[in-house]
Amino acid sequence: MPVGAPLSEVLRAAAPVWVRVHTGQALDRALELQRHESAASNPLRSAVRDVCHGAMRHRALIDALLQRLAARAPEPEIGGLLAVALSQLLDDAYGEHVLVDQAVQAARNQPQMRAAAGFVNAVLRSFLRRREQLLPELLLDDATRLNVPPWWLQRVRHDHPDRWEGVLASAAAEPPLVLRVNCRRGDINGYLALLREQSIAATRVGPSAVRLQRPLPVARIPGFAQGLVSVQDAAAQLAAPWLQPSDADRVLDACAAPGGKTGHLAELSDANIDAVEVDPVRARLVAENLLRLGLEQSRVRVLVADAGDPAAYWDGHPYDRILLDAPCTASGIVRRHPDIPWLRRETDVAQLATNQARLLDAVWPLLAPAGRLLYVVCSVFRQEAHEQADSFLERHPDARAVALPGAPGRWCQLLPTAGADAGHAACLPSDLPTDHDGFFFALLEKKVPSC
Ligand SMILES: C[S@@+](CC[C@H](N)C(=O)[O-])C[C@H]1O[C@@H](n2cnc3c(N)ncnc32)[C@H](O)[C@@H]1O
Repeated sequence: MPVGAPLSEVLRAAAPVWVRVHTGQALDRALELQRHESAASNPLRSAVRDVCHGAMRHRALIDALLQRLAARAPEPEIGGLLAVALSQLLDDAYGEHVLVDQAVQAARNQPQMRAAAGFVNAVLRSFLRRREQLLPELLLDDATRLNVPPWWLQRVRHDHPDRWEGVLASAAAEPPLVLRVNCRRGDINGYLALLREQSIAATRVGPSAVRLQRPLPVARIPGFAQGLVSVQDAAAQLAAPWLQPSDADRVLDACAAPGGKTGHLAELSDANIDAVEVDPVRARLVAENLLRLGLEQSRVRVLVADAGDPAAYWDGHPYDRILLDAPCTASGIVRRHPDIPWLRRETDVAQLATNQARLLDAVWPLLAPAGRLLYVVCSVFRQEAHEQADSFLERHPDARAVALPGAPGRWCQLLPTAGADAGHAACLPSDLPTDHDGFFFALLEKKVPSC
């Protein structure tokens, strides 16, 4: 791993992030706090981010290793330092002895850790001596091997008996960086040519989707600041074209922030869009996104409201199209957020499903006859997906399912794919890449009442 900062500094700065995530904080938030608290240089920040993401991809194994290697539970900060050091050893990121020396150095450099430098040295050297015996033994446990809590493993296994292993294994790899070309500002061939001019290797992976061979920070993506492209996974790019608004339509984007799909809807048509978002801070991101994309704001209204309370935002004119990209467990995007399985509790799934049903029931009456609603979740759990859509149809006799291109059944569940599992998605429209996040889509049409 190339680092423009001393390794001991990287390990020292990464340790408290691990501790925060272990106490229930989201990884992105913990990294943000770490950035605020230290005057870290850019290379140090990005190295800390990489180390922490890598460590989360081994979280279950690291916890199991620490239990075996340390006779007593270490203080949280020491445990954090050991965890990030172990993850680097597991990834063979550095020479073993360099890594151990730097971890010991990191402990020595911190007054409150200095006394534990010998302990850090002993635990890491013990790992190096025993790894050949310990790793195969610990990895016999599926939850440890696939890096999820046992309840998560059981649920994925139950929901996808033929695919559970691939779904979970897909989270082990770094996800691809996929861009959506803004068709208002250019076309995909022109953008690929721009990338070639700047010697950035990329491939077309969808009608408007470009995958960079190596991820780049957004600030270095050509044309990003000018609104030529947005960062959006290939599966997420299916939503707006599947909803297909026409220029004259009124569209409700019911859970809009940060505005990835709002932007796509506004790129594809001149429809009037109400983008509703309950969180005022996140709602600002929708407006910023539209501004960056150069999309006419007069036809997109960003409204801060609970989509489940139409009285707070609806003017009484029916919508022709509704996108409900509902809050969910995010179990389909673990490869982007490896901390997700550890932040959720099993009871969250039912609670989220109840809220999704509430939102569906609340926005359905706002849809015009013959209008269409696309329900989307980035989840692989059936309770938020098939079961949610099936029970909606049972509750609403005026709704019918509309087949989605390439989907074998009524609904479309795309399971996350990567590495060895790529190419086995449950439904693959012809122009969809084989490497994408996990998403569920249900397209519903309101029947026209007969007189
Ligand atoms: C899955 S994200 C939406 C992603 C977005 N559609 C995109 O493509 O960028 C769900 C969003 O819904 C918002 N949300 C949650 N509950 C809501 C509610 N009751 N009404 C409106 N927005 C809500 C969350 O704050 C979050 O920003």
